[in-house]
Amino acid sequence: MAVRKIIEYPDPVLRHTAESVSTFDESLRTLVADMAETMYAAPGIGLAAPQVAVSQRVIVVDVSKGEEEKQFLPMVNPEIIEHEGSQLDEEGCLSVPELTAQVKRFKKIQLSYQSPDGEHHQLSAEDRFAVVLQHEIDHLNGVLFIDHLTPLKRSLYKKRRKKMLETQQAA
Ligand code: NI
Repeated sequence: MAVRKIIEYPDPVLRHTAESVSTFDESLRTLVADMAETMYAAPGIGLAAPQVAVSQRVIVVDVSKGEEEKQFLPMVNPEIIEHEGSQLDEEGCLSVPELTAQVKRFKKIQLSYQSPDGEHHQLSAEDRFAVVLQHEIDHLNGVLFIDHLTPLKRSLYKKRRKKMLETQQAA
């Protein structure tokens, strides 16, 4: 297992539509293990493969409850098959440094996905857990949470991010 480098906005790899996974092999299991390690090292509560420059439909989400040992759920080819209601919650993203904002999402979702060994599953999620899942699935479609903000908020962040990168380069 290894911690991989997290790709940050505006890297174009974050904008690609990730490919469906059809081979459930050792390299997929390694990717999943590395993604979990990278997520916890960050630390974060969810991570999508495009964030580590792998354009495949794979996400990992933290499902630890309280003080228990860290537990994560890997989902391959996740898809929202039903949704209900809406909610507004604060989001941030490991690939979008120094920004959190309120985003409108579905309140409840039903998902289909595959485990890293190819087994088919379904899952219902609501509230915060549903937010995390929708955020990560967006990444597989090249969508970032800033895309859900108003054009003004998004352009303000773009400018601020550009300055951040210029300052990093100058240092
Ligand atoms: Ni994200």
